[in-house]
Amino acid sequence: MSKTVNSPEQTPVLRVWGGQKLSGEVVISGAKNSALVLMAGSLLCSEACRISNMPGLADVKTMTKLLSALGLTVKRDHDVMEIDASGLNTSEAPYELVSKMRASFFIVGALLGRTGIARVPLPGGCSIGDRPVDIHVRGLQALGADVHVEHGVLHAYVRGGKKRLQGGHAYLDFPSVGATENILMAATLAEGETIIENAAREPEIVDLANFCIAMGAKIQGAGTDKIVIQGVERLHSCDYSVIPDRIEAASFLLAGAITRSEITVAAVCPEHLTPVLAKLAESGITVVADGPNRLRVIPTETYRGVDIETLPHPGFPTDVQSPFMSLLTLAEGSSVITEKLFENRLQHVAELNRMGADIRLKGSVAIVNGVARLSGAPVMATDLRASAALVIAGLAADGETVISGLHHMDRGYSDLEGKMRGLGAKLERTMVDVVSENPEPATAQ
Ligand code: EPZ
Repeated sequence: MSKTVNSPEQTPVLRVWGGQKLSGEVVISGAKNSALVLMAGSLLCSEACRISNMPGLADVKTMTKLLSALGLTVKRDHDVMEIDASGLNTSEAPYELVSKMRASFFIVGALLGRTGIARVPLPGGCSIGDRPVDIHVRGLQALGADVHVEHGVLHAYVRGGKKRLQGGHAYLDFPSVGATENILMAATLAEGETIIENAAREPEIVDLANFCIAMGAKIQGAGTDKIVIQGVERLHSCDYSVIPDRIEAASFLLAGAITRSEITVAAVCPEHLTPVLAKLAESGITVVADGPNRLRVIPTETYRGVDIETLPHPGFPTDVQSPFMSLLTLAEGSSVITEKLFENRLQHVAELNRMGADIRLKGSVAIVNGVARLSGAPVMATDLRASAALVIAGLAADGETVISGLHHMDRGYSDLEGKMRGLGAKLERTMVDVVSENPEPATAQ
């Protein structure tokens, strides 16, 4: 087939050949959703902090560029990052970086706490939902901040021209992870006591609180729905290590389960995975503790459908909804999956149905009727977690699955295909021409 004359643009795709048994051990990286907010948290301190177990992700690179644009010095050596915020010289964040990644908005609380001012473009929505920031705003207002939006930029400064925020009582209408993190960071340097009620309880919140405590902050109750912060004058340098990525760990457990393989997932915190392990057990899949911080999937030929409702922690994590759905496409019986956190996080359903799954959508509910087999197909990743779901489905499908939209995957998974290959999976990233009808591999990377 001759190529069109107008510039054969190229894009990477991931080819996955299904039907391989996996085996061995995979080491989990540091948590994306902790690493990003810890980097933002380093803005609170005017000395250098060393953070280890940093994952290698596109999002971490974006946050590095953002902090550098604010005057910080960020050095990385393998998984250790040194962030020196003594050079902070502006509280204004550039749109081109913030628009790339929602987590950029998590610098608002730290900037406001440290300098009394923050000017940060609104993050806007993303493929999984509108994602407003009203709860963040009300929380910061409860600490004595004036907050308004002008030309798409959020302007926040301490009321009455004061330098420091005032401790206050922030009740959250919904236990938002990002809002809890922004308010917690702002409150560490406020005058007096802050209480955050109906706070989010995710492990990443606890990690952020522990990082701030390591810098000298006074925080109690992280991990519960009531967090109490006694503001301090300043914070000091620290050495800290990011918790393992529970979402990445869950993705590998599901890859082991769907391929009926025995694999070990190492350097994990099993207690962070309680809701996921409970649903695996309910479906008849056995996962055992294999020593401290290690989990092993036991191969199970058949497993049952289960119903899942995504909820804030310790409920079932929305970030595991799509990978778990891939597993349930091959379960015996049906499963009802209700996505309660994000209004547009079921786009992977159409792609899984292209692979022969039998899933019907009713608003935010997906009814998954288990089928005997999936077949490989060209599919498109629509968001970060959907990309992992398609890889997991591809590992169990007959033949070849070709996944595009890999920029989503690279944002949040640290060398997913390298780690899968280490377990014996057959997959390869290749470049394909965008314009031609039948993509043919140009070069193997
Ligand atoms: C964090 O996003 C994570 N991102 C998300 O992971 C994760 O899905 C989410 O928490 C829930 O666990 C990072 O940590 C970088 P929320 P966040 O505020 O903080 C609504 C991934 O795949 N809401 O808890 O943005 C909101 O629209 C990503 O790694 C408001 O209405 O999530 C959503 O429906 C995706 N107003 C719900 O709350 C607000 O001011 C939960 O959002 C804030 C949130």
